[in-house]
Amino acid sequence: MTTDIVHLRAPGNWINDPNGFIYYRGEYHLFYQYFPYAPRWGTMHWGHAVSRDLIHWEHLGVALFPTKDYDRSGVFSGSALEIDGKLRLYYSAVKYDRPNPEDIHVAEGDRFETSQAMVISPDGRQFDNWADKRQIIPVLTDPAVGDRKDTRDPKVWREKNGYRMILGSTRDGAGRVLFFRSQDGENWTYANQYASPELGRVLECPDLMKTEDGYIFVGSPMGVTADGLSYADQAMYARADFDPDACALSLREPLSYLDWGLDLYAPQSTLDKNGRRVLVGWMRMPRPVENWPDGRGPWNGMMSLPRLVQVRDGRVCFPVHPDVDACFDKPADGLAPLAEYKPVRLRATLREGDALNMGGYRIRMADGRIEADRSALFGGLQGCRLTASTPALEGDGCRLDIFVDPNLVEIFVNQGEYVLSHVVYGLGTQLEGPVEEARTV
Ligand code: FRU
Repeated sequence: MTTDIVHLRAPGNWINDPNGFIYYRGEYHLFYQYFPYAPRWGTMHWGHAVSRDLIHWEHLGVALFPTKDYDRSGVFSGSALEIDGKLRLYYSAVKYDRPNPEDIHVAEGDRFETSQAMVISPDGRQFDNWADKRQIIPVLTDPAVGDRKDTRDPKVWREKNGYRMILGSTRDGAGRVLFFRSQDGENWTYANQYASPELGRVLECPDLMKTEDGYIFVGSPMGVTADGLSYADQAMYARADFDPDACALSLREPLSYLDWGLDLYAPQSTLDKNGRRVLVGWMRMPRPVENWPDGRGPWNGMMSLPRLVQVRDGRVCFPVHPDVDACFDKPADGLAPLAEYKPVRLRATLREGDALNMGGYRIRMADGRIEADRSALFGGLQGCRLTASTPALEGDGCRLDIFVDPNLVEIFVNQGEYVLSHVVYGLGTQLEGPVEEARTV
């Protein structure tokens, strides 16, 4: 099996959302939405990779296949939990009423239904015991609760008295989240829901993270950035209050972008081996990458670098995970390592008017914002966002930690106060601007 260093990429063909992210028996497990047969979205499986350090990812192949009548059209996104030493994977099971004869991967007339299911693995390595695949929440039949089609992406966690599940859903064209509770992680009852116009048409991949002061809500509302460019759907977050008994959620503030590059979607968090909250997101590709230089063929989809979720001075920050940062310990000649497909970390302090050119990807500080421009790398590509900007920063300069690999640039501003990440193609190795340090792995 192959190993990815630093970023987990599609092992070939297509990946989207991170799923089942968990530290279990001394390893990080990261599953992902996977279509193993072509570099495009299709009938979903769960691919599986493991890592001891969040940096080297070993691909272990397909963990979950569509094998039951109720999940015959796709094993959609979900999460993992350790209960009694075993690894449970919770996912959404999709069943099309009738596959479209033109394309078996798209339901005809959007006719499908979704239930929630679970697999128990004895060890995080064996998933082929289909007797342990169970449908745990049947298709919703009460529209006042949630939609029978678009209710999905169970994120499950433990509270003092049992387990809770948050699901993305919709009703009357408005996104919402549903809460279920359980004593044993298997038998679930509907508890409550939360709706807001901020949650788009459908809310996907919700996550609720407990902090020392309340919770952080993360979700991916569909259709929030209606500017006509590809991917109107963006991952967002807000600080929140949550009463685990009543399953009552309220947001303390308006939703904000989790990543200002607007390519990151459907993130999922877990606790790292030291109990810190760590999050990974899917980096969407504006168009397929042609080929890896090592000839592994067409692939589409990557994960972001793992980021901590921290509350600092009352605001949520997403600094790069320190274990990832620490692996950039070798001096580099600017961006030269990119030529060997190795990532580079640049450190720079930017002040108003300063600019950097990183192999054709340009950033500058203007009006207190960090502005990024990847248009020189995209040869006139229309219809997707080529520029992006953070909100205005306080103070007159900022520290940047920039992680560059040939297909992904991730800019951490003031240690995660803002993050701006972009998928890129054809980065060069020239480097211009006030860079203080370059390191590689
Ligand atoms: C988000 C999403 C999820 C769904 C999965 C299907 O990108 O649409 O809501 O479970 O992808 O691949």
